[in-house]
Amino acid sequence: MTQARDEAADERATRWIAATEDAVRRAMAGDASGHDFWHIDRVRRMALRLAEAEGAERLVVELAALLHDVDDWKLRPDPDAPSRLEAIVLEIEIPAALAARVRQVIDEVSFRGAGVATPVSTIEAAVVQDADRLDAIGAIGIARAFAFGGSRRRALYDPNVEPRVHGSFASYQKDEGTTLNHFYEKLLLLRARLNTRAARTIAEGRHAYLEGFVARFLAEWEGER
Ligand code: ADP
Ligand code: NI
Repeated sequence: MTQARDEAADERATRWIAATEDAVRRAMAGDASGHDFWHIDRVRRMALRLAEAEGAERLVVELAALLHDVDDWKLRPDPDAPSRLEAIVLEIEIPAALAARVRQVIDEVSFRGAGVATPVSTIEAAVVQDADRLDAIGAIGIARAFAFGGSRRRALYDPNVEPRVHGSFASYQKDEGTTLNHFYEKLLLLRARLNTRAARTIAEGRHAYLEGFVARFLAEWEGER
């Protein structure tokens, strides 16, 4: 009896995830700012790996990871645009209580500036936030930062523009600095802002790689190497 019930639940979850994946693929198609479906897929896989280590609920984690960027402010700056998250939630027909848990995770994931705390209230939000942040550092993080900068016509670097510590989400959103400054304004700060031990371990090598890259970039800029 319980086994039959478990199997039915598993089957439903598999259907919800497949439908969500399909909708997210369509939503993110054509992105050239480092937020294509492969970013979503890497975050999903990393989040599930962290969920295993931390005992987070897999279904909530997987759905939230898949949906975490469909309404992101960087990709959809118009605050009056209809929510793609809500459209997908209706389309895939998940129960209201599950949708509420997924929404709560997504609301807590995004970085909002160096001086703005982004606390998480559940272990599911903790692992999805960590997985998203791990994808912003290391070799892939470097590639994504310059892809994002290019998509916004930002300079690689300008020695006359100082990095800033954004004390509010509004000032972080408005900033038009260079991509190299983004390393100081966000990427190099992420290691210290991870929630889980498993993510902190993975971040070590990725953070060192970022530091090495910035040092080498500046040395080449000065013609020292
Ligand atoms: P978050 O919501 O925490 O910002 P996302 O996955 O939506 O996470 O986006 C993070 C990615 O966007 C990072 O890889 C980062 O490099 C890129 N990004 C955001 N702002 C900038 C910027 N000002 N310059 C360069 N890259 C940026
Ligand atoms: Ni993301």
